[in-house]
Order: sequence, then structure tokens, then C-alpha cells
Amino acid sequence: MSDTVSFGYEDIPASEKTARVGGVFRNVASRYDLMNDAMSGGMHRLWKDRFVRRVKPHAGEQILDMAGGTGDIAFRLQPSGASVTVADINPAMLDVGMKRAAERGIDGLVWTEANAETLTFPDRFFDAYTIAFGIRNVTDIPAALREAHRVLRRGGRFFCLEFSTTTWPGFKEAYDAYSHHMVPRLGQLLARDADSYRYLIESIRRFPDMPRFEAMIRDAGFAQTRVEPLLGGLVAIHSGWKI
Ligand SMILES: C[S@@+](CC[C@H](N)C(=O)[O-])C[C@H]1O[C@@H](n2cnc3c(N)ncnc32)[C@H](O)[C@@H]1O
Repeated sequence: MSDTVSFGYEDIPASEKTARVGGVFRNVASRYDLMNDAMSGGMHRLWKDRFVRRVKPHAGEQILDMAGGTGDIAFRLQPSGASVTVADINPAMLDVGMKRAAERGIDGLVWTEANAETLTFPDRFFDAYTIAFGIRNVTDIPAALREAHRVLRRGGRFFCLEFSTTTWPGFKEAYDAYSHHMVPRLGQLLARDADSYRYLIESIRRFPDMPRFEAMIRDAGFAQTRVEPLLGGLVAIHSGWKI
């Protein structure tokens, strides 16, 4: 990994990124779910529903939802009967997730603090690894992908939901204008924090496009990689198999 990495549009020393990202999610944790609905007009719920349909969770499987935050993916995985571990580096996000689970009467999820780059789970433990809107915040993405590969058993599947780059003409420009101008304003209005939301939008722009990210997943050892663009690639589901 190079010495500097992107933090939104800034280039910062790699050693500082994890703490800076931690600050962003600590600040937004209590308003995170409200803001997701406000920013996406509720569409993140449909993207997450589709993502979990692609994962096809089964009873008895062990699934790791990495960067699981406030639990949206885990809450959708669990009705299948799978055993779901929610891992996230940020205790503030996990706290909100555990409260939401209690409010909904969901128990049986395992909540654990973990850095995606350095997991302590044993090799070949999980049947599936999911990460939704998390990977672009990780400092060393190749390290996180290698860890995903390590903790999956042979035949295990990797699924990533992340913002990407839409290829629909016209839509890209409209979305750029919306996200750069409106999202920080919404962040200020609803979460009293324009800067964190400016980072979140800028980090989307710096994230590798679909072919480049798919190549990174292959480089980590995954086979039969696939990309499913949503809204022309505004959001994408990347997947691969450990064989
Ligand atoms: C945008 S939230 C996504 C939360 C949830 N997956 C969802 O879809 O609503 C990104 C999450 O990534 C977590 N995160 C960032 N860097 C991480 C890392 N290195 N390891 C684990 N989690 C990380 C943040 O703490 C945050 O909870």
C-alpha cells in the first residue's frame, strides 16, 4: 500500500485514515439510519433487499457481515436461519445496531468490533462474507479482500454492495450535482454535520470503478467474479467465489 491514501478528496498519510474514518462514523452513528433514508429517498432499502436476495442465505450457514454498522444487512440475513456475525470497527455504530435489534425483538446476532484488514476469525470459518457500503472506507482494501478470502471456506461466497460510477449519460451529471450540493446540506440539517457527509460523497468519487474493483477482488484470490450494476452502476453488487 502507498504511504498516502484518499480521505474524500484529500490525500492523507495511510496511518491516519482509519482514525479519521472512525471520527466520521462516530459523529454520524445516531443519525446514520435517518440520513440513509433522506439521502437515497429510501432506495438504500431496495438495494439492500436485492443484495441479500443475491447472497441467498440458508439456515445453518455462518455468515460474516463485515462493516455491518447499525445492522441493516444482518437484519435481512437472519430470517433465513443463518448464524450472522456483525463485525465493525466502530463501537458507536455497533451500539446503535444493538439497540435497533433489541427494539425489533431480533436476537441471536453476534456483534463484534473488528477491523476488516486484520480479522481474528479462523481460516475457512464462514460460508458467506458480506460488506455493504463499507469497503470504500477501509484504508487497505486489498488487505481486507485477502482477509475475506482467508475466513471463507472453500465454496464460500463474497458479496459487496458499494457505490460505484454510473455509466448512464445525463444521470451521472445530475447525481454529481445532487450529491455534492444537496447531501452536505442534508447532513447539516438532519445530523448537524456537513463535513462527514462531504467525506462520504467524496469517498464515493475516489472509489475504483467497476472493472478495477472486480480486478481487485480477483487479485485477492476469488474466482467467477461478477458485477451487477444498479442504476447504471451508481451502486454495484460485486461477488466472487472461493474455490
Ligand atoms: C456506510 S457504513 C455501512 C453500514 C452498513 N453496512 C449499512 O449498509 O448500512 C460503513 C461502515 O464501515 C465501517 N468501517 C469503516 N472502516 C472499517 C474497517 N476498517 N473495518 C471494519 N469496519 C469498518 C464503519 O464503522 C461503518 O459502520
